[in-house]
Amino acid sequence: MQRISPRDPVRILTLGTGQMGAGIIRAVLETPGLELVGSFARRRERAGLDLGQALALGRHLDLTIGSDLAQLVAGARPQVAIQATCSRLTDALPELEPLLEAGVSVVSIAEEMAWPAASSPELAARLDRLARAGGAALLGTGVNPGFVLDLLPVALSGVCTRVERISATRVNDLSAYGPTVLASQGVGLTPDAFRRGVDAGTVAGHFGFPQSIGMIASALGWEVEQIEERREPIVSSVERETLFIRISPGQVAGCHHTAVAQVAGREAIRLDHPQQIRPELEGVATGDTIEIRGAPGVRLSGSPEIAGAAATIALAVNAVPRVLEAAPGLHSMLDLPVPAALPGAAHAAVLDPTGTRGRDE
Ligand SMILES: NC(=O)c1ccc[n+]([C@@H]2O[C@H](COP(=O)([O-])OP(=O)(O)OC[C@H]3O[C@@H](n4cnc5c(N)ncnc54)[C@H](OP(=O)(O)O)[C@@H]3O)[C@@H](O)[C@H]2O)c1
Repeated sequence: MQRISPRDPVRILTLGTGQMGAGIIRAVLETPGLELVGSFARRRERAGLDLGQALALGRHLDLTIGSDLAQLVAGARPQVAIQATCSRLTDALPELEPLLEAGVSVVSIAEEMAWPAASSPELAARLDRLARAGGAALLGTGVNPGFVLDLLPVALSGVCTRVERISATRVNDLSAYGPTVLASQGVGLTPDAFRRGVDAGTVAGHFGFPQSIGMIASALGWEVEQIEERREPIVSSVERETLFIRISPGQVAGCHHTAVAQVAGREAIRLDHPQQIRPELEGVATGDTIEIRGAPGVRLSGSPEIAGAAATIALAVNAVPRVLEAAPGLHSMLDLPVPAALPGAAHAAVLDPTGTRGRDE
C-alpha cells in the first residue's frame, strides 16, 4: 500500500480541465508536498497543449495535457488521481477502472461517487473489488454531496443519543456556474418549459440527494423505504444577469429541489436545496442550516453558504493524504478521517495521535 513519505512529494494526476479540474490543478500546484505529474483531458483537442497556457496560469509548466489515460499513468506514475470529469458512476467508471487496476488511488468529485451504492450496489461492489485487487483506495467527495448535506449532519448526530429526524437546507448562489449547470437547473426557461424539462429529465436540479440520504441512513442504521424528490421553478420577478446568462421577470432563476426520505413509515430525512442566480436581487440570503430533532436537539446555521466550487476543490485536494493512508478499497467521507486543510504540507496531514510516528524514518 502507498503511504506518504515525509521526504517525497505525493505524485498527483488530475482528470478534467473544466471549472473544477482547473481549480484543482491550481490548488495542487500551490500545495506543498504535492507534485502535479500529469493532467488528463477528455477533449482530444486539448492533448499536447501546455497546461500553463491551456489554463491561462500565466506561466509555462513544462507539462502537457494528455488524452490517453493509460499512457499518462504509465509515464507519470501517479500515486493519486483526482477525477473532475463527470457526475455519474457509469461515466466515471471507464476512467476509474484503469487507475485502480494500476494501483493508483483516486479522489473523485463525481456526485454519484459520494455514495455509489445509491446508484448501483453492483458497481459499488465492483469498484471495491477492483480497488482492493489493485491495492488502491477510492473516495468520492465534494461540497454536496460529500459534505454539507450528509457528512455534517452525520457528524452533528454524534452528540445525540436519540435522532428522530434530520433536516438540512442549503440555499446557494448559482451565479458563478457555467452553461452546463445553468441548463440542468432550468435557468432561463419559462415555468412551463421548466416543468416539461423536469418530466423529460433535461432539468435535473441537484445531483446527489440519493447519495446524501444513503450516507445519512447508513450512518444512523436507518432503512430508507422511499425517497420522494420535488423540483419547483424559482421564478424571477426582476432582471438578473451573470457572465453566462441574462433573464427577465417571469423566467426561471433556478430550481428549488427537495428530497424527503421515509423510514419506518415516517419522514426521517428532509433535504432542501433552492439554487438560483443572483439571489441577493430579491433579498434571498444564502446559507446552510442543519437541524436534528432528537435528544438533544441540534441546530447549526451559517450564512452565506459554504462556497461550493472553492469547497469542492479544497476537499478534493485535502483528501489526498486521507486516500493515501487508507486501506485499499472503496471508501466514503463517513469512514475516512475528515480531510483537513493542507496549509503546511501534505506530509504534515498524516494523523499521528502518538506524535512519534515517522521519527525513525
Ligand atoms: N460532489 C460535488 O459536490 C461536486 C461539486 C462540483 C462539481 N461536481 C461535478 O464535478 C464535475 C466537474 O465539474 P466542472 O464544474 O469542472 O464541470 P465542467 O467545467 O463542465 O467540466 C467537466 C468536463 O466537461 C468537459 N468540458 C468543460 N468545458 C467543455 C466545453 N466547453 N466543451 C466540451 N467539454 C467541456 C471537461 O473536459 P476536459 O476533460 O477535456 O477538460 C471536463 O472533463 C461535474 O460533473 C460536476 O457536476 C461535483
